[in-house]
Amino acid sequence: MKIIDVYRQRRSIRSFVPGAIDTDIWHEILEAGRIAATSRGKQARRFITITDPLAISETVEQAKMQVFLKDCSALVVGCQTSEAASASDVIISMAQMEAVAVSHGLGTLWLGVFDRDVVRRRINLPEGYKEVLMMAFGHPAEPGQQPPKLPLTEVFRENSF
Ligand SMILES: Cc1cc2nc3c(=O)[nH]c(=O)nc-3n(C[C@H](O)[C@H](O)[C@H](O)COP(=O)(O)O)c2cc1C
Repeated sequence: MKIIDVYRQRRSIRSFVPGAIDTDIWHEILEAGRIAATSRGKQARRFITITDPLAISETVEQAKMQVFLKDCSALVVGCQTSEAASASDVIISMAQMEAVAVSHGLGTLWLGVFDRDVVRRRINLPEGYKEVLMMAFGHPAEPGQQPPKLPLTEVFRENSF
């Protein structure tokens, strides 16, 4: 699949069918995150993956997350390794991981809303590290559709605003 078609197909999934992700596909997803660009090549980001169904369920409940997330196959917490590290690094990796997941027919959801203290405690995040956001990966229950986006001419201007 052409990369542009992956992005055209990408949409937020809020209904998952429980079940593990194929191991080779999961490793490909993680690899996409590993090799992503980072600010000054520092690679100052780490990812905590939660794939055990019970751990997912407990995390969703304790961190007051949306209930349908209990059915996802994996939660990934993206963390910068210090306050000074770049949140962009985490986000770039996550975006690459998402693209690989979508290319394999999986569904994803970016997650910015969760009880951060609870998640930090659950993943034993060391002092100084900062959780940036989470992403859910799983098997979409419905095809779903990407909502309409602004036209190219609105989003991009040439040379001057
Ligand atoms: C940084 C970020 C955080 C988000 N956090 C949440 C969230 O906590 N819960 C949720 O349901 N959707 C969340 N979303 C998904 C957006 O609501 C979604 O991307 C938007 O509605 C556009 O839909 P689309 O992803 O299908 O194009 C988040 C998206 C981004 C980029």
